[in-house]
Amino acid sequence: MKSVNFLLAFVLLALASSLASAYDPSPLQDFCVGINDIKTGIFVNGKFCKDPKLATPDDFFFKGLNIPGNTNNLVGSNVTIVNVDQFPGLNTLGISMVRIDYAPNGGENPPHIHPRASEILFVQEGTLYVGFVTSNQNNNTLFSKILYPGEVFVFPIGLIHFQVNLGKTDAVAFAALGSQDPGVITIANAVFGSNPPINPDVLARAFQLDVRVVKDLQKNFVLLALASSLASAFDPSPLQDFCVAINDIKTGIFVNGKFCKDPKLATPDDFFFKGLNIPGNINNPVGSNVTTVNVDQIPGLNTLGVSLVRIDYAPNGGQNPPHTHPRATEILFVQEGTLYVGFVTSNQNNNTLFSKILYPGDVFVFPIGLIHFQVNIGKTDAVAFAGLGSQNPGVITIANTVFGSNPPINPDVLARAFQLDVKVVKDLQKKF
Ligand SMILES: *[C@@H]1O[C@H](CO)[C@@H](O)[C@H](O)[C@H]1NC(C)=O
Ligand SMILES: *[C@@H]1O[C@H](CO)[C@@H](O)[C@H](O)[C@H]1NC(C)=O
Ligand SMILES: *[C@@H]1O[C@H](CO)[C@@H](O)[C@H](O)[C@H]1NC(C)=O
Ligand SMILES: *[C@@H]1O[C@H](CO)[C@@H](O)[C@H](O)[C@H]1NC(C)=O
Repeated sequence: MKSVNFLLAFVLLALASSLASAYDPSPLQDFCVGINDIKTGIFVNGKFCKDPKLATPDDFFFKGLNIPGNTNNLVGSNVTIVNVDQFPGLNTLGISMVRIDYAPNGGENPPHIHPRASEILFVQEGTLYVGFVTSNQNNNTLFSKILYPGEVFVFPIGLIHFQVNLGKTDAVAFAALGSQDPGVITIANAVFGSNPPINPDVLARAFQLDVRVVKDLQKNFVLLALASSLASAFDPSPLQDFCVAINDIKTGIFVNGKFCKDPKLATPDDFFFKGLNIPGNINNPVGSNVTTVNVDQIPGLNTLGVSLVRIDYAPNGGQNPPHTHPRATEILFVQEGTLYVGFVTSNQNNNTLFSKILYPGDVFVFPIGLIHFQVNIGKTDAVAFAGLGSQNPGVITIANTVFGSNPPINPDVLARAFQLDVKVVKDLQKKF
């Protein structure tokens, strides 16, 4: 216990980052696994919590994200959603994930908005034309880009956006969203398929269409179920469409996040990153490599509360060693290989380990601030992608932080905390 208290104290010390982004859900406990308690009529912001003693690793687990959705429908796309409804452990953690499949030759995820989340999308296969449109105040400017495998694009919270498969083959993308329940409003369906319908005269005028055309459109669209009574709050509550980061060193003022670029000067590339298809070099002592896509790589992520990583693991035990993200929950999806993963709850919850063996298509959640790890237990390379609920989640690798701090922690302190001989501690301090 003592050692863990000490560790936590240390972890807390190491958090101070002058340019940290706020995160959303500010949980008051390690996690709050969702349950649907219909006996009480009270709405909560999120779902009711399960007794933490009854929580299991499966509450933080989902499988099947390796299976393509059926794109044989009118729009030629299919979104497989992994939010709090599939995944009760996501409750209050402010993040979720989707897989999107697109049919060849124009299959599209039609213009829509997520009222409660920014989205960071990564192309696995195919060629996508993607874009978002700013609000009226910013002159409804389209920010668009053609994306190839390994490329990443950001859709700021609440803005209308879309993706279209330009290629002659299937396309697949994965995206993380900064809410446990981002919500979807498909524009065409919401406008022309509402129930009851919006008066056709209103729409005719708004869209400058003949009333008969509007009535035809209204016949074609069916209501998409948007209303979710148990919506989660979202974090960063931006006060503008976006705030593309710049590093202004002329002024000495710290802001929560980075300084914003003049929106008139923003370009699609401010929301874009390429290379997530390229494996990192795993030839290092821990046998893993994390490729980070946060606000430092994508300045357009500033204030949007979400980011992405690719993690490569060497065969036979390559690991992402125990670490914490002080400012983000992580939702991890296995692309290739077999991973042994887990997280440990806080002292109050008896430092319980929640662990699981993951196969391709499996998804697991690591709640904000908790110590967690992944190990490749297969004989081949493993690859995972993860979304994190902060533009700048931070990483604290436990071993390096404790034994490799600068200046070093007094070895006597560590010897006592870890119940080790002082010589062993000094040896450890030389290694890190
Ligand atoms: C998406 O794919 C799933 C699984 O194949 C299927 O059950 C579902 O109906 C599809 N949704 C749409 C909108 O086509
Ligand atoms: C929007 O257009 C107005 C009028 O042309 C212009 O003054 C303003 O600078 C534009 N704003 C942006 C963000 O492009
Ligand atoms: C991760 O991979 C990149 C690209 O191969 C390499 O530059 C970097 O040094 C690697 N990091 C570690 C910790 O091995
Ligand atoms: C932690 O352990 C204490 C003492 O054994 C027990 O009373 C408590 O219910 C446990 N809490 C959880 C969350 O397991």
